[in-house]
Amino acid sequence: MTRRKLIAGNWKMNGDLAALAELDGIAAAAAANPGVDVAIAAPATLIAAAAGRGPDLAIGAQDVHAADKGAHTGCISAAMIREAGARFSIVGHSERRADQHESDAEVKAKAETLHRYGLNAILCVGETLEQRDAGQAKAVVTGQLAGSLPDGAGAAWLSVAYEPVWAIGTGRTPTVADVAAMHGAIRAKLRALIGEEADAVRLLYGGSVTGDNAMDLLGAGDVDGALVGGASLTAAKFVPIITAAAIIPA
Ligand code: PGA
Repeated sequence: MTRRKLIAGNWKMNGDLAALAELDGIAAAAAANPGVDVAIAAPATLIAAAAGRGPDLAIGAQDVHAADKGAHTGCISAAMIREAGARFSIVGHSERRADQHESDAEVKAKAETLHRYGLNAILCVGETLEQRDAGQAKAVVTGQLAGSLPDGAGAAWLSVAYEPVWAIGTGRTPTVADVAAMHGAIRAKLRALIGEEADAVRLLYGGSVTGDNAMDLLGAGDVDGALVGGASLTAAKFVPIITAAAIIPA
């Protein structure tokens, strides 16, 4: 089973209109590396301006509400992000699971809504340091996956990102062997949940990915791409990760 590499950036609560100039370099790298899918999850305010910066660069959102519309002050719907030009959204990022107390059930509902609107989803799972130290990492991650995997999950529209919470924004990463072991466990759980379709679902690693460690992390078993925070904010830092993905055989 060959899976195209996906390198997705997550700008989080960073960026402004001036920062969109970075997308030109990123879009150029995407065009120059046709074997790699490249995406940026922009702040909601920037989606419309970011979309259309290049046909090879997919712009998405960082979150979406599960409901179609209605009395949900401050939230944003799948129809809204789609109209703005988004092609996907992240769901279940650990910062939202922590800060906004999002449950597995909510994350699942959000992913299902994205699919109903013809949008792709990047579903995040990952353990805290306390959970890892307690030997619970695999149980926590596969449990989150089982709880938040949308009904009708399919590789054409869904990717799963393994993001250990303790590796996000810290400069720390798991060993390549640890990443491969966790991705293998995620793949096995997916097989149990959705059968053969699991073999086509892309599994991304996220947490302190940089141009310096991308070759090692992307080369780990069952790693089909990366979800990148800090290093996605500039073309200078993000393009080397795209280039690394292009070198690694699918
Ligand atoms: P980081 O963030 O690359 O800055 O560690 C990754 C993420 O949260 O998606």
